[in-house]
Amino acid sequence: MHLTAFLLPALLGASSGALAAENPHRRAATLKSRAPKSASKPAAPVKRVLSEDSRFLNSNSEKFVVNGTGVPEVNFDLGESYAGRLPITSPNVTNATANELFFWFFPSANELASNEIVIWLNGGPGCSSMDGLFQENGPFQWQSGTFEPQPNPFSWTNLTNMVWIDQPVGTGLSLAAPGAPAQIKDETDVARDFTGFWKNFIETFEMQGFDVYFTGESYAGQSNFTRQISPTSPATSSTRTTRPTTMSRGSRSTTPPSARAPSSGRLPAAAYLNHYNNVLNLNDSFVTAINERAEACGYNTFMDLALTFPPTGKFPAPTSFATGNLTRDDCDVLDDIYLAALYVNPCFNFYHITDYCPFLWDELGFPSLGDGPNNYFNRTDVQKALNVNPHVDYAICGDHSLGLEHSLPSSFTVLAGVVERTNNVLVGNGNLDYLILSNGTLATLNNMTWNGAQGFSSSPFTDKFFVPYNPTIGDALTETFFQSEIPTVSVGLVAGGGYFGTTHTERGLTFVTVDHAGHEIPQYVPGAGYRQLEFLLGRIDSLTEQGDFTTQSGNFTGTTPL
Ligand SMILES: *[C@@H]1O[C@H](CO)[C@@H](O)[C@H](O)[C@H]1NC(C)=O
Ligand SMILES: *[C@@H]1O[C@H](CO)[C@@H](O)[C@H](O)[C@H]1NC(C)=O
Ligand SMILES: *[C@@H]1O[C@H](CO)[C@@H](O)[C@H](O)[C@H]1NC(C)=O
Ligand SMILES: *[C@@H]1O[C@H](CO)[C@@H](O)[C@H](O)[C@H]1NC(C)=O
Ligand SMILES: *[C@@H]1O[C@H](CO)[C@@H](O)[C@H](O)[C@H]1NC(C)=O
Ligand SMILES: *[C@@H]1O[C@H](CO)[C@@H](O)[C@H](O)[C@H]1NC(C)=O
Ligand SMILES: *[C@@H]1O[C@H](CO)[C@@H](O)[C@H](O)[C@H]1NC(C)=O
Ligand SMILES: *[C@@H]1O[C@H](CO)[C@@H](O)[C@H](O)[C@H]1NC(C)=O
Ligand SMILES: *[C@@H]1O[C@H](CO)[C@@H](O)[C@H](O)[C@H]1NC(C)=O
Ligand SMILES: *[C@@H]1O[C@H](CO)[C@@H](O)[C@H](O)[C@H]1NC(C)=O
Ligand SMILES: *[C@@H]1O[C@H](CO)[C@@H](O)[C@H](O)[C@H]1NC(C)=O
Repeated sequence: MHLTAFLLPALLGASSGALAAENPHRRAATLKSRAPKSASKPAAPVKRVLSEDSRFLNSNSEKFVVNGTGVPEVNFDLGESYAGRLPITSPNVTNATANELFFWFFPSANELASNEIVIWLNGGPGCSSMDGLFQENGPFQWQSGTFEPQPNPFSWTNLTNMVWIDQPVGTGLSLAAPGAPAQIKDETDVARDFTGFWKNFIETFEMQGFDVYFTGESYAGQSNFTRQISPTSPATSSTRTTRPTTMSRGSRSTTPPSARAPSSGRLPAAAYLNHYNNVLNLNDSFVTAINERAEACGYNTFMDLALTFPPTGKFPAPTSFATGNLTRDDCDVLDDIYLAALYVNPCFNFYHITDYCPFLWDELGFPSLGDGPNNYFNRTDVQKALNVNPHVDYAICGDHSLGLEHSLPSSFTVLAGVVERTNNVLVGNGNLDYLILSNGTLATLNNMTWNGAQGFSSSPFTDKFFVPYNPTIGDALTETFFQSEIPTVSVGLVAGGGYFGTTHTERGLTFVTVDHAGHEIPQYVPGAGYRQLEFLLGRIDSLTEQGDFTTQSGNFTGTTPL
């Protein structure tokens, strides 16, 4: 079995020594409070909507069938999919109050996917992976500012079998049963539960022997299932941008970024300001003051050392970052930049710094930080369509107090081992993310030792990451251009291509930055996320490669006839 994970930079906190909590929003509510009244597992109605010869349809999976034309508000056929909950324990352990995890599984028609499955996990901890499915990489998308769900031409299901999972227990549509407290205190517990669930999932869909790839974003990179699931076989891992925070529903978070990602944020923050001040537009005296403070706190010296290739040895965090100094006000440049940015742009979104007012209406109220109804997956009809019955009180990010801060960042624990066993780990970072900064992630990787050496031996900024052009857009643009019309593209989800950042691979680990993308790479630059998955799955040899997506044959490379 191959395990692949898109690790989230969040997990990789550059300062891991400092280890502040990733999730400032932990609340006192217990997992139990989100459980439905009845503890018994509902008998889901069987919907015969699939042909009998569907590969994944069997007597165990039948009850998970989703009616592809019966998902509320989605006005097109989603095709074959399965959703519902499976226990974290062995199916042979009969315990009506056992905890369960929710999944939504979409088989792929891609013939290269016959023996593989990709898992997608959102972060938090405690954020629902339905966010990824709904706004990042699923077969339909209902993104900020859009009127209704659209088919997603960049759905990862085009490439492979995909399953989105709400975890750990108590997250999203995953049940924390009354009388069965989640008992999660660290990543080892999370991994234990996930492993039990995964065994049940594999058995239910008869996927024994499949290659398994992990993808996810933000806090998902903290997960160490990659080792637990298959301790002796090769694993792969790969990373997306990250969302290391839960956020109060429907309202703007006021939690400063440093409380979420102190390490990967604070150290590179001043340099980030200097680089992106054409977007942030902060005044000269403020910028000067920030730079002086960063210098005095040792951040510039640290970043120079951290971004030396090859690194000259392990580099410690600056002393101003040490325990007892972490909250030193004069060194908290990350939050002060954030606050100043809010004065200039009241809709400043640290997930994507080029957002401006007004907030876009958003079905999930996330991640625009504006209000939104945030109720799609809380609707009883939606839950019924997904075989969740009785109703679960759903929130995009959960209210629970996981003691996950007791777990060390994955860059200090499992990540190097995952690279070594798979030689196929990708860590991606959106450059417009002001929560997990690309250079902070890079500093973390450059301090890590894997496959016999520390960090990268040469600059990871030399080679360009190419995202194929979408042929539909190419055709539209050249046609209208020659008719002297203003170019327009069709309604629906479209995305551009071209050079979109930098990419670098050494000893099985790829670091890739994505321009235009904020915290959620597939959401902001769908072609980039799609391309990264093609690379992870081995469908292309390099992210520098120019050419079409493997699933399109338009061969539009951006060359205009002029
Ligand atoms: C770099 O790695 C060393 C050894 O693992 C560790 O002691 C140090 O804290 C790390 N530096 C940072 C900034 O995390
Ligand atoms: C699927 O949903 C559609 C729309 O609600 C409905 O017309 C159809 O009967 C459903 N199919 C099955 C097999 O339940
Ligand atoms: C459950 O029990 C059946 C029948 O005894 C057995 O074949 C199967 O291997 C068991 N599954 C697990 C996960 O123990
Ligand atoms: C079922 O699980 C709950 C919570 O873990 C436990 O308290 C209870 O004893 C279990 N019941 C059985 C029959 O194993
Ligand atoms: C990231 O680091 C590189 C190399 O030091 C530097 O050229 C670039 O400006 C930095 N980017 C930001 C946003 O700080
Ligand atoms: C806190 O920072 C100051 C100034 O950088 C430094 O002199 C001091 O040693 C630091 N304290 C600790 C506990 O590291
Ligand atoms: C410059 O920005 C800082 C930080 O927001 C603010 O305190 C200061 O008043 C600003 N100066 C002017 C002239 O607006
Ligand atoms: C979810 O639905 C339940 C029942 O309709 C309702 O009580 C609850 O307030 C809803 N939660 C959210 C976040 O809207
Ligand atoms: C998972 O993480 C925990 C704590 O972070 C660590 O103690 C444990 O050894 C890890 N498990 C594996 C299999 O690496
Ligand atoms: C995904 O599949 C659809 C349907 O076959 C196709 O129209 C679309 O171009 C594909 N997307 C990509 C990026 O290949
Ligand atoms: C696109 O390019 C591939 C190889 O680069 C070639 O095999 C294919 O025929 C081309 N398709 C079209 C439509 O030109």
